[in-house]
Amino acid sequence: MEAPTMHCAGLIIFLLLGLTEAGVSYSKPAQCKEVNECFSYDLVCETPDYEVRHYNASKWVATNITSLIMEFAGYQGFTRIFQYIQGNNAEGKHINMTAPVLLQIPQNEGIMEFKNYIIYFLLPADYQQSPPAPTDANIYFIDFPDMYTYVKSFSGWLLAWNSKLNASKLRQQLNNAGEHYDSNYYYGACYNSPKTLVDRHNEVWYIAEGAPVCPKHVP
Ligand SMILES: *[C@@H]1O[C@H](CO)[C@@H](O)[C@H](O)[C@H]1NC(C)=O
Ligand SMILES: *[C@@H]1O[C@H](CO)[C@@H](O)[C@H](O)[C@H]1NC(C)=O
Ligand SMILES: *[C@@H]1O[C@H](CO)[C@@H](O)[C@H](O)[C@H]1NC(C)=O
Ligand SMILES: *[C@@H]1O[C@H](CO)[C@@H](O)[C@H](O)[C@H]1NC(C)=O
Repeated sequence: MEAPTMHCAGLIIFLLLGLTEAGVSYSKPAQCKEVNECFSYDLVCETPDYEVRHYNASKWVATNITSLIMEFAGYQGFTRIFQYIQGNNAEGKHINMTAPVLLQIPQNEGIMEFKNYIIYFLLPADYQQSPPAPTDANIYFIDFPDMYTYVKSFSGWLLAWNSKLNASKLRQQLNNAGEHYDSNYYYGACYNSPKTLVDRHNEVWYIAEGAPVCPKHVP
């Protein structure tokens, strides 16, 4: 089937263009293999099924896309943001690629329905305080608060069908564990270039509401 090339390929063909020589001198998440800066976190606890992470407050570049198809939304949204980081901004600045690229996916279960997706790009540390203003009116900045996330990882390509299955499994496991989370949407997190054929890493996230419970047998 052709589908696997759509979302991550679309997203990531562009990501590849943004790739630079590895020059890592600080610790970063294990799944952060293809860029210098990733959204880093502290692991709060984990189970065989999911991780609970704590993320500090952060600033992102975002754009909304309404689409019937998640993979198209990811492609169109990232294409737009890619223009911004390639220098189509008020200061003509070239901004290095970061990971993951996040896709906010509405929870409603309808299949052939237009949905509003949001694509997010993490600003590198150097631009967290004062990123160059966008020239495209569809691009905006958003501050993520300090947050706890529930994360389920899976391999392969980040596509609508497997994101949905993994999110639904995660939801079930969180419900069983008595965890509280925002059930209106989840995030798909994409880390790899389309040239990476093995060891691909994707995640789905729910944002915690209140403090995570965490299983008792882990610190
Ligand atoms: C962007 O990436 C290149 C290559 O890794 C690196 O030399 C440069 O310092 C990075 N730029 C910034 C502003 O971090
Ligand atoms: C989050 O912020 C706290 C307080 O500034 C700091 O100690 C911690 O290392 C930060 N965590 C990450 C993953 O950057
Ligand atoms: C983007 O979508 C979110 C969620 O639907 C909405 O709250 C926000 O107003 C939208 N922003 C823009 C600029 O369209
Ligand atoms: C998660 O997605 C992967 C595809 O990469 C799939 O093999 C796996 O079955 C999915 N997990 C669940 C619980 O559906």
